[in-house]
Amino acid sequence: MSDTPPDPVLREYAELAQDYDRRWAFYVSATLRETLECVQFEGVASVLDVACGTGAVLAALQRQHPYLNLVGVDASAEMLSVARAKLGSAVDLRHAFAEQLPFPDGVFDLVVSANSFHYFQQPDRALSEMFRVLRPGGQLVITDWCDDYWTCRACSVWLRWTRHSHHRLYRSRECRDLLTSAGFQQVALRRFKVNWLWGLMTVIGHKPPFGPS
Ligand SMILES: C[S@@+](CC[C@H](N)C(=O)[O-])C[C@H]1O[C@@H](n2cnc3c(N)ncnc32)[C@H](O)[C@@H]1O
Repeated sequence: MSDTPPDPVLREYAELAQDYDRRWAFYVSATLRETLECVQFEGVASVLDVACGTGAVLAALQRQHPYLNLVGVDASAEMLSVARAKLGSAVDLRHAFAEQLPFPDGVFDLVVSANSFHYFQQPDRALSEMFRVLRPGGQLVITDWCDDYWTCRACSVWLRWTRHSHHRLYRSRECRDLLTSAGFQQVALRRFKVNWLWGLMTVIGHKPPFGPS
């Protein structure tokens, strides 16, 4: 990629990367806690974090479950370089887009993605990639802003005006439907607030144990 990324998401995170952990510390630790609470770790050996950013989720997993095989992808080289310094060589970090994951079918037990879904230009394609790389019976856990909360709706309108990187937020019902359309089953969703402004949701889905891979 060139020195000045043309993609607004890449431009935003190239500028923010070095300061991201400090600036978003409260928000990231609150959403991380909620996300990991929704994961069933039994039978999980390999984890992919999609849009892993500076690696907050992966670092927590590395601490709490050192036996896991951890992999992360992110579109921003700058965010990945902060993650690399934090996580060391034990975690496999790849420079890639959620919409085109560089892995064979069915290799992960768990796919997580935190605070990033609203950036994805092709959410259905990203979900179908997450589905593809999960093994049959594998789990998907996504946390992101939720458009059910009026504060988030207001924020989304403001971000659409001010930042080209912002794609869109989803209502909880839309989010469930997106997962179901991608083939996920037993879809469950939990909403939560981390403060007066940020209202989020964690959605969990399972790839059917048999059937299309
Ligand atoms: C708000 S940060 C979240 C990072 C991390 N998951 C966390 O919770 O701290 C959003 C991240 O999404 C990444 N991103 C946005 N669109 C992406 C895409 N289509 N594919 C991969 N990464 C993407 C950005 O580069 C950025 O690192």
